[in-house]
Amino acid sequence: MLKVKIAVFVSGGGTNLQALIDAQNSGIIKSGEISLVVSSNPDAYALKRAEKAGIKTVVCSRKELGPEEFENRIERALKENNIDLIVLAGFMSILSQNFTKNHEDRIINVHPSLIPSFCGKGFYGLRVHEEALKYGVKVTGATVHFVNEIPDGGRIIMQKAVEIKDGDTPETLQKRVMEEAEWIILPKATEKICQEIEKARK
Ligand code: GAR
Repeated sequence: MLKVKIAVFVSGGGTNLQALIDAQNSGIIKSGEISLVVSSNPDAYALKRAEKAGIKTVVCSRKELGPEEFENRIERALKENNIDLIVLAGFMSILSQNFTKNHEDRIINVHPSLIPSFCGKGFYGLRVHEEALKYGVKVTGATVHFVNEIPDGGRIIMQKAVEIKDGDTPETLQKRVMEEAEWIILPKATEKICQEIEKARK
């Protein structure tokens, strides 16, 4: 059976990309293969992780290319590599409605909170954890969801809760949410969607 070809989109450290690579190596991801890494940032450490794993990379910077050419380049790379599924793993550029419509039910994202809390426009990275601590919630977590035209608004695929502890800072909380939730549910959800894509092909 032909594996589902996955493109992982990144912008920074790439620990979620690493979790996906490790899951592929350990067999948690078996229905898909990571065939391409797209980075919006030429200096992202995620690019090093991809190179180390022998995965093809492409850099598309919105700042340098402008919004239209940015998405044109991404579309071209996806086509050239016959990509079936896009996984956003810490990708900090918003994709246009045109792009998300073009890839309906074929883009998933990991978000570091329990959606619908602390999500939507402006909620990304450390900010999400700062807001959770400011609000005083006692439980947070991570969500993997489909991507549509509404930021963090697509159908939920998987969620995992994480306890907030006394004395947590945004940094300690971010680390715990990654370790206890993101790095676990992102590979699992990716495999789930790959299996569904495989099934739909039969
Ligand atoms: C992760 O916590 C991810 O959930 C978050 O950015 C971090 C990227 O880390 N994404 C968002 O906030 C998207 N709204 P990584 O580069 O080490 O995977």
